[in-house]
Parts: sequence; structure tokens; C-alpha cells
Amino acid sequence: MARRRYVEAKMRETARLFGFGEVMTPTFESTELFVARSGEGIIDELYAFEDKGNRKISLRPELTASVMRFYVNDMQNLPKPVKLFYFGNCFRYERPQAGRYREFFQLGAELIGAPSIESDAEVIALALATLKNLGLEDVVVRIGHLEIIKGLLSDIGIEGGEQKHCMAYIDKHDYSGLDDYLTGQKKKTKAKKLLDIIELTKDQYGKADKKVIDYAEIIAPGITRTVNGLNYLKNVMERLGTYGFKDYRVDFGVARGLDYYTGMVFEIDAPSLGAEKQICGGGAYTLAGLFGGQEVNSTGYAFGFDRIMLALEKSGVNVPHQNLSVYILPIGDEAKIAAIKILSELRNAGISADMDLMGRNMSKAMKYAASINADKVILIGDKELADGSLTVRDMKTGNQEKVPISDIKDYL
Ligand code: HAM
Repeated sequence: MARRRYVEAKMRETARLFGFGEVMTPTFESTELFVARSGEGIIDELYAFEDKGNRKISLRPELTASVMRFYVNDMQNLPKPVKLFYFGNCFRYERPQAGRYREFFQLGAELIGAPSIESDAEVIALALATLKNLGLEDVVVRIGHLEIIKGLLSDIGIEGGEQKHCMAYIDKHDYSGLDDYLTGQKKKTKAKKLLDIIELTKDQYGKADKKVIDYAEIIAPGITRTVNGLNYLKNVMERLGTYGFKDYRVDFGVARGLDYYTGMVFEIDAPSLGAEKQICGGGAYTLAGLFGGQEVNSTGYAFGFDRIMLALEKSGVNVPHQNLSVYILPIGDEAKIAAIKILSELRNAGISADMDLMGRNMSKAMKYAASINADKVILIGDKELADGSLTVRDMKTGNQEKVPISDIKDYL
């Protein structure tokens, strides 16, 4: 928990630096909230049940819907944009495996009310700054825009349910499945542009940058939605460069599993995690209208916090766990009373301190102090009491020093 709290605090701090304020929402919501967003099919993926008052409720599978409900109820009149972040547990009725749990934590952010290239760039920049501040460098950032592929699908007459079907193949990066599906629908020859564009980013870790966008524009001239999406992406990328972020890929195949996204979308992977490598997902979406509010453009994302912890460990990033400043070892009854006095004085001064409660001898106490990661050990026995001083041992260097009892607080 000490390590998790350290990482959580760094992530919160970055959100605060970017002007986002924290919100907290209930662990359960009316099931209707999630059904309204994703359709009845979502119930299979939820911890959904009836409470004692026969209300249909669900443990939240994510927090975007909850935050938007909160926004519609209480925050619509606030000056825009409303910049919110959250940290909380989520529940999904999935088959658990390494990195995929039924209860997990998300730390996410939502920027509500600014329909602009700048707000999309600001949200991606917050995600990237968070990873930078954590020191997690071994990541692949993939940015796309839904209109690029959707424009191409509409162009060959694939709309509605068929389009959703194709987007699902693309989301899974199952391009041969998509190819077969289009062949079955007798659209394969017409879909050449679509397949060519997907080909550009097929290898999701291949080279995909600004040149890919330029090339895609050559393949898809005249398809307005697609070209608009490409131009939008170019502008977002230009702004990210100004923030100082250049290390990302363009991936037209980012389709996102949840269906409320409307424009820019992005995902971040930590390849060291293997199959469940996605540590972050997000994009631009609209949900306020669906929840009875005035429609408003929003952009957000969520980090899978548990996966972040795993990725930091795999990448060998040093995540310090809380340690104790001082461990006091009293030897003899009189020393125990003196130790409590010093202990209280140090704690009152904000110095973390503990003392031996088990009657350990010197060598066992030293081992114990090392095991709890104490910076210093204070020895106090008859000799020390007689001359009003303490022996302070630095656990890193092994050096020992005599310090007058009256100076110990300042010394530490
Ligand atoms: P999501 O991609 O479903 O997006 O989840 C975000 C992150 O949560 C994933 O990238 C992953 O790291 C983590 N995650 C998801 N399921 C599990 C699981 N079963 N076990 C461990 N970690 C998991 C959303 O939830 C959107 N609400 C993000 C968003 C916010 N979009 C706009 N605003």
C-alpha cells in the first residue's frame, strides 16, 4: 500500500498541476446509467443486481458515466471547461487473468465543455506528463481519430450495425477477420482505400508518424470525414509537440471498446505487461445529452492503476515505500520511560518514530530496524541516561554518533 500510495500521490499531483480538481462518486449506480450508455448487452459485463428495495443497481465498471451524471446533476452551471479527475475502484464481470481483475482501480480525468483541438491536446498531455513524472518510459502511445475509418466505411456503404461490427474487428486489431468480413459482404474491392489505410498502421508498433497522415491523405482524397479526421489529428500532434511530447504513434486502428467516443481517441500500452498491456485508454466523447443534460463535448481517459503498478515494477522503476525515520531501542526499564519521552517529542515534531516493544536484544533489534527500512536507530541505555546523550546509528552508512538528548530533534 505504501508503494501504491506513493504512485497515487504523484498521479494526483500531476492532475493538480494541470488545473484538474478531484471528484468522488458512489461505488454503485443505477444499472440504467450504464445501459443508457451501452445498451442491454453491457449487463453481462457488470456486477448487476437488485437491492432490498428491488432497485436495479450495478457496481461501476468505470467512472466516466458516473462523473457525467454528477456533472449533469450539479455542475452544468459552472464556468467551462470543468476539469475533473478521480481515483476509484471499478468492477467488471470478466474472466480474471494476469493484469485483468474483477475489481481494479482507475485514475482518470475528464475535461468537460471545451470542444477544441486544444482541449484534446491538453488531456493527452496530462496523461503523458503523469507517466513522465512516474518515470515510466517503456510505453507506446497510440493516437487516432474515429472519423478516419468511419468516413472510409461510410464511403463504401457500411453504416450502422455493420459499421459497429467492422469497428470491433479494428479494435481487436483483427485485420484478417475484417478482410474476411468485407469479402463476405462483397465490399472487399470497394474497401481498398480502407484496407490500404489500415495497412499503414497494421503493425501497431511499426513506424507511424506524421508522414503516415500525409500518405493517408493521398489515399483518401475527397472523403471529407476522413480528411477532416486526418487534419484534426495533425493539429493535435502539432500542439503535443509544443507541450514537449513527441514520442507517440499514429494508429488509425484505435477504435476503443466503449461506444461513446466521437473523435480523437488514444491508448497507451506498456509492452512489458504482455497480453493485458493497455495501461490507459480515452478520447473525445459526448454523454451529457444522454443523461438528460445539455449536450457538451468532453475528452477524458483512465489509467488502469493496477497495471501502472505492474508496469513500474517490470520496468525496474524505483518506487520508494514509506520508511521510518527513527527506531529507538531502549535497554533497561529506566531507558524505556526515557524512550517514550523522546518518541513523543519526535512524533510531535513530525518525525516518524517507533520504539522496540518486544524486548529485542541489540543484534535482533538492528535486523528488525533494517527490515522495516528505518533510516536511523537510537540506542538508549544506562550509560546514555547517565551522561544525557544518545547513540544514533545511521543504518545506511553504519556510522554511530553521540548526540545530547536535548539536541536530538534538531539533529534529526
Ligand atoms: P477502458 O479502456 O475501458 O476505458 O479502461 C481504462 C483502463 O482501465 C484500461 O486501459 C486498463 O488499463 C484498465 N482496465 C480495464 N479493465 C481492467 C481490468 N479488468 N483489470 C485491470 N485493469 C483494467 C474506460 O474505462 C473509459 N472510462 C476511459 C475514459 C475516460 N474515456 C473517456 N474518459
